[in-house]
Amino acid sequence: MTALAPTAMSTPVITIREEIPFDVAAREALLDAALGTERFAKTAERLRDGRLPAEGLSLVASADGRLIGSVRLWNIAAGRGRPALLLGPLAVDAGFRCCGVGGELMRHALAEAEARGHGAVLLVGDAPYYRRFGFSAERTAALRLPGPYARERFLARELVGGALAGAHGLVSATGRRLSRPPARRFRALAGNDTRLASHAA
Ligand SMILES: CC(C)(COP(=O)(O)OP(=O)(O)OC[C@H]1O[C@@H](n2cnc3c(N)ncnc32)[C@H](O)[C@@H]1OP(=O)(O)O)[C@@H](O)C(=O)NCCC(=O)NCCS
Repeated sequence: MTALAPTAMSTPVITIREEIPFDVAAREALLDAALGTERFAKTAERLRDGRLPAEGLSLVASADGRLIGSVRLWNIAAGRGRPALLLGPLAVDAGFRCCGVGGELMRHALAEAEARGHGAVLLVGDAPYYRRFGFSAERTAALRLPGPYARERFLARELVGGALAGAHGLVSATGRRLSRPPARRFRALAGNDTRLASHAA
């Protein structure tokens, strides 16, 4: 867990830590508010649906104990036989934007991914935002996602030099599968099973 230094007496203490089951409802509310329920229709969701996030790579930001930010990464193959991660969604509570929380979540997520031996991270998002973390469309030109997307928003960053050299073909999900069928997962979202619900978004 990392605490961001407060800048004034009244400034809340913001911490970045790994997500726990208790965070699920607040994380889902945050994502609904930031991205709307149409997030479930995005092509990137096809790579997350029915899967667990990558081990140790679900992070939250909290301000005096309240969840104000979330980012998760997912195991994928960037073309046949090339393990990588998909980052997203990344979201910060509207009341806490533009004060560095998104950047801290990104830096922690990328550092943790690197520490865990991952070679590359892909995402679909705004290049003007993600470029500051080293993402570009350079390494995704020969890759394709399983659905519609804007080519200029399909970005990647290598954590290990050359990890995406020559990468081509379809990006596919490789993460651990949820062990229960969808109907059970919806019940979990209603609050009966926080372990499953934590991975259902
Ligand atoms: C994108 C988001 C996570 C950034 O969080 P944040 O805590 O405000 O980020 P930071 O404080 O680290 O960075 C803020 C900077 O990023 C810029 N920025 C924010 N969103 C941007 C975007 N979509 N495109 C370009 N720049 C953007 C801000 O203008 C600000 O610039 P500055 O540093 O020059 O002032 C947040 O705006 C958010 O939750 N947006 C809605 C959800 C979303 O779009 N998520 C990304 C898609 S997965």
